[in-house]
Amino acid sequence: MPASVYLNGELMPAEQASISPMDRGFLFGDGVYEVIPVYNGQPFCLVQHLRRLQNSCDGIQLTNPYSLAQWKKVVLDVIAANVDAGHDQSLYIQVTRGAPAARDHLFPESVQPTVFVQTKAFPKSDERLLSEGAKLISSDEIRWQMCHLKTTSLVANVLLKQQAHDNNADEVVLIRDGYVQECSVSNCFIVKDGVVTTPPKSNHLLPGITRDFVLHLLAKNNIQHREASIAPVELEGCDEIWISSSTKELMPATMLNEKPIGTGKPGELWRQVYTLFQANKYDE
Ligand code: PDD
Repeated sequence: MPASVYLNGELMPAEQASISPMDRGFLFGDGVYEVIPVYNGQPFCLVQHLRRLQNSCDGIQLTNPYSLAQWKKVVLDVIAANVDAGHDQSLYIQVTRGAPAARDHLFPESVQPTVFVQTKAFPKSDERLLSEGAKLISSDEIRWQMCHLKTTSLVANVLLKQQAHDNNADEVVLIRDGYVQECSVSNCFIVKDGVVTTPPKSNHLLPGITRDFVLHLLAKNNIQHREASIAPVELEGCDEIWISSSTKELMPATMLNEKPIGTGKPGELWRQVYTLFQANKYDE
């Protein structure tokens, strides 16, 4: 069966879905989004993702077109219409400020938001990242002051991720005001002497749902952890670095700016928490 997508109230074959070039998502990147893992047919931490979507809508003064219950139904309908994508999927939601007749920076009046939802097979685990670990570079932050909102205006993230790729790396760790914040498409953790640290939530980083799940696993399993600022020198001198996201789950990083982190191999504590992650992700 061809993939079905949801667009503005209707499920339809993906190739029939189209939106206006006047859509503000296209013209201004004026929208918000979510990426939700689906494990064994069940959306992972759905309420948390939908709450963050609400927060992103509020943050850009966009009226959320659906209630929590309506969103849940849309998400489950899209999953049910795409059983061919497999038991594990990656579901994408986008809401934009709609398609007015004319391009104008000011918010349009009486224009319905555009709602798009699609799903696809969950990306295969990257065996190289799992066995060798990710390569990181660090860079100054170039994004704006509202990084806690998951907006579709992602050109800065795109440039940063490409910068990593062009430097033979997988991700870039972003430094703002002298502290580590997050990466271009993931959150980060460091381990030093058995203690896991991740930067505290602020407007300078996305409050990752995977990050929260990892913190929950750490607490549940009595693994020492804290949310605290990380200086670049701590990043360089730590034993392990991990990165987390809805598509990469929890990955070890083993190189930073071409120098090994710790032993230069995926760390023992990462292995322990990754195993917990895999064992618990079907229950959330
Ligand atoms: N991005 N920080 C940034 C800048 C991100 O783009 C993401 C995820 C995260 C991790 O958040 P979560 O654990 O909720 O996925 C942190 C998604 C996957 C994306 O843009 O495709």
